[in-house]
Amino acid sequence: MSTGEELHHLREHYAGHPLLESDLDPDPVAQFRKWFGEARESGIPEPNAMTLGTAGADGRVSLRTVLLKAYDAKGFVFFTNYGSRKAGQITENPSASLLFPWVALARQVEISGRVEKISAAESLAYFLSRPHGSRLGAWVSEQSSIISSREVLRAKYYELKERFASGEIPKPEGWGGYRVVPDRIEFWQGGEDRLHDRLVYSRTGEAWTVSRLAP
Ligand SMILES: Cc1cc2nc3c(=O)[nH]c(=O)nc-3n(C[C@H](O)[C@H](O)[C@H](O)COP(=O)(O)O)c2cc1C
Repeated sequence: MSTGEELHHLREHYAGHPLLESDLDPDPVAQFRKWFGEARESGIPEPNAMTLGTAGADGRVSLRTVLLKAYDAKGFVFFTNYGSRKAGQITENPSASLLFPWVALARQVEISGRVEKISAAESLAYFLSRPHGSRLGAWVSEQSSIISSREVLRAKYYELKERFASGEIPKPEGWGGYRVVPDRIEFWQGGEDRLHDRLVYSRTGEAWTVSRLAP
């Protein structure tokens, strides 16, 4: 097989500390907090950028990057347009996965579960914390719809800029947050000679159990 580039030789040596069961917090969200803190401290760009995987009723999977904006025992929250492609898929099939690809740290975290809309009050509180330009942006774009040109977007941007020149920009009706309520969270740590660690928390009711998976 020829790729035209020598991709076959692109291989990293992972020599991080192994991830042991005894290292894990019994609470997966506390464990996530620990790793997320380490990702932030490492200086990698946008450690809260995560890949969101969804599939609609047709079973066709799609992925995109979104930003984690909050997390706690209830779940992991991102914000988007409720009329977007992802929103349509979530309505048809409220199961999703999130992946944090912290490749520079030889780590990844995969979170799966049921997706629910957060309350309008929670979305509003976050919207009002956003800078002016981001608030305007939420109004400009009917995310995932086909547009005839970039110019259309620019024209709408200037029109809305004028409309909202004075006063607060309200939250658009069709914009808000989703929460992924996890029932499975897997922590992956790259190890030497491909002896990677995979520790997965699975939820039954309110209880979490941990298993080790073959890498
Ligand atoms: C670094 C990065 C961060 C992003 N963050 C978000 C986000 O928080 N919310 C969002 O709706 N789209 C975000 N996007 C854009 C999405 O990846 C995607 O293009 C958009 O949400 C439309 O997806 P959809 O058509 O599947 O609904 C981000 C893209 C990148 C590259």
